[in-house]
This record gives sequence, C-alpha cells and structure tokens, in this order.
Amino acid sequence: MNNILSPSILSADFTILGQQIKEVDEAGARYIHIDVMDGMFVPSISYGMPVIKSIRKVTDKFFDVHIMIMDPMRYIEDFAEAGADGITFHLEAAQDPQAVIDKIHSLGKKAGISIKPKTPVKELLPYLDKVEMILIMTVEPGFGGQSFIPECGEKVKELRKILDERGIATDIEVDGGVYLDNLKSILDAGANVIVSGSGIFKGDIAENVKKFIAIMK
Ligand code: DX5
Ligand code: ZN
Repeated sequence: MNNILSPSILSADFTILGQQIKEVDEAGARYIHIDVMDGMFVPSISYGMPVIKSIRKVTDKFFDVHIMIMDPMRYIEDFAEAGADGITFHLEAAQDPQAVIDKIHSLGKKAGISIKPKTPVKELLPYLDKVEMILIMTVEPGFGGQSFIPECGEKVKELRKILDERGIATDIEVDGGVYLDNLKSILDAGANVIVSGSGIFKGDIAENVKKFIAIMK
C-alpha cells in the first residue's frame, strides 16, 4: 500500500504559513491537508478560498482539502478554482453525496468522503468505489490537538476489511490525534493516508516529517 503523509496546516504558525508549508514539502510530505470549517457543521471557523489560493503559490504538492461545511455542494467549484487537488466532504453534511462526488470529478479533482466518529462505516457502503479516498475521523472534527478515539481505529480495520473483500483499492485517510507513538497501529489497522497537525507542526517540523515518514516506509 502506498503510504502518504498529509500534514494539517491547522496547527501551523499562520504568521509564517508559506515558510512552514515549504518546510513540510522539502522534508518529504506528499500532501498538504487543508481544513475548512464553517462554524455550522463544526463549532469553529478556520480559513477558506483566499488562503488556499495564496498558499498554492508556494508548493506543487497535492492539496488535500477537507471541507467541514454544511451542504458542501455550494462550494465545490470555488475550492477547485482556489487550487484543491482533492476535495473531501462529510457524508453527514451532504443532501446527495453522490451528486457531490460527481461534481468534484466533473472538475477533474479527486473525491473523498468522510465520516465523523459516531457515524457507522456501513453508511459509506454505497460510495466505496465511487471515491478515491475515504476519511475516517478519529476525533470529533473541529479542532486540532485532541486525543485519538480508539473505537475509530476499529472502524478503520472494519473498512479496510470490507474494501479488501471487495477488491477495492480506495485510500483510507485517518485524521485526528495521530502522533509518532500511535502511527504504527493506525497503519496496521489499514490506513494509508495519514493526517497530523500538532504531531507535525509542534516542535521541529522537518524532523517530525522525517520521523513520520520513516515509520510509514
Ligand atoms: C480536525 C481537523 C484535523 C486537525 C487534526 O477537525 O480535521 O485535520 O488539524 O489535528 P491533530 O493532528 O492535531 O489532531
Ligand atoms: Zn482534517
């Protein structure tokens, strides 16, 4: 399985955001995870299109845009235009998830679908082979720096088993509470796209990226 690190810039120092993105890029991260929050689907508000457009100038890495917004259909085109390479929306927030997937694909972007900790894996069954990536949230979405919820690790195992049984090679991304000390067990559970915010941007960023990648090899 092709393992990919996707540092979440939610935990970056925004006064030097471009510089920190370059740092994770040069240290070997392949994706940049960009969390967009609307203050409705999740309690907090983060950043949106202008920030994505601006940081698009500092790296060619894959922009892994995670949209935590109600009725995501409203903004797919804007995120594609701003520079997203992949757009992951929440199943719980979409009236017609398949229509959102189709919209993302029609713009030539990779589609991802995500579930919150309390949403069962079975809700994803209609979409397993319709998306390039499935994001299993391992904390309640909305904030960085929370602790990994162990039951969500079990959901990753359950999903990987279903995908394997059906011969589907969709990526499984894990987001929330991932650090060096639990990374191996998350990979063993079947995740192959790893998001980390505080695990990467707190302390020595380049060192953190290299340590993550060493375990992911
Ligand atoms: C939370 C976001 C995450 C967040 C993860 O809603 O989706 O991407 O940045 O942060 P850590 O890795 O600190 O838990
Ligand atoms: Zn995220």
